[in-house]
Amino acid sequence: MLVGDRAESIRHSAEMIRAGGLVAFPTETVYGLGCDALNPDAAAKVFEAKQRPTFDPLIVHLADRSMIETVVTSVPASAQRLMDAFWPGPLTLILPKQPIVPDLVTAGLPTVAVRMPNHSIALALIREARTPIAAPSANPFGYVSPTTAQHVSDGLGDRIDLILDGGPCPVGVESTILSLAGARPELVRPGSLTLEAIQTVIGPVGRTISPDEAVHMPGQSPRHYATRTSVTVLPATKVWPILQGQERVGLLAMSEPGDLAGQFHAVEVLSPSGDLREAARNLFAALRRLDELGLDRIYAEPCIEQGLGLAMMDRLHRCATSS
Ligand code: TXA
Ligand code: MG
Repeated sequence: MLVGDRAESIRHSAEMIRAGGLVAFPTETVYGLGCDALNPDAAAKVFEAKQRPTFDPLIVHLADRSMIETVVTSVPASAQRLMDAFWPGPLTLILPKQPIVPDLVTAGLPTVAVRMPNHSIALALIREARTPIAAPSANPFGYVSPTTAQHVSDGLGDRIDLILDGGPCPVGVESTILSLAGARPELVRPGSLTLEAIQTVIGPVGRTISPDEAVHMPGQSPRHYATRTSVTVLPATKVWPILQGQERVGLLAMSEPGDLAGQFHAVEVLSPSGDLREAARNLFAALRRLDELGLDRIYAEPCIEQGLGLAMMDRLHRCATSS
């Protein structure tokens, strides 16, 4: 947790990182579990703390554009344009890696994922550590990503050196991952930067990675975001099932629910006015709260799979497949 004042906490955390330790820190999307990206022993501790399979590579976080040359061999014009438009922000680019990046960080791939988070604490930590910071989301592998320091503490508290508490994450859904390492840009993971926004800068983006193929790709297994409670995504109409029997059922509603909401044991409303940004910010915390109630089932209302809705539905579908 934060020690002393903010500058002191960041200095202390940066020393931890330089010494090969693990520090959880806030980004605009979710909390990350950070280590020195150039230190393979530190990276090994991240995999161990999360119980993450080593075929699942980490994202390397940078604090300024000059840092990219340390980890990436070449930056194509499309990457330059995207960085101009969206960094710092929730866009992760996959590019050819420099040999200095340990194989463990990239799961042996010839590419590395890089992003510059739009969060003052994250940026100050990376600058102070004077090294790129590799960080997966700070949750045990497969569980819902953390959007508060308390979430991190609940899942990993006893396995990491320090948690920098920057309050709730302002965006709430992970970065969009785009590969620029192949013949044409490919969406690897939908995220909080919309595909539409990316396409206005670089034109068409491929989406050849189908959910079936994704199972065989690092980190794209549908066994992610799994709640203990089984999740069912409802049909697109706002007609909820009439519940029968003694099941204790929770509802994750996108907007203010109608009269049928009364039949649910618990209801979480992501955004009363139906605002997708607000809904995304609340998604993981609401899922965790419902998951803690020991319900028999959670019904999740879908949203339209466009803009931010694409990433939200991706997470809900994976949650439904896993739980
Ligand atoms: O918003 C975010 O992206 C958050 C914050 C902390 O930055 N991080 C995050 O990391 O979501 P994580 O570890 O939960 O997801 C990283 C995913 C991996 O699972 C993998 O799918 C993809 O990034 N990835 C990383 N390096 C890759 C590479 N070289 N090729 C393909 N995919 C890669
Ligand atoms: Mg994750």
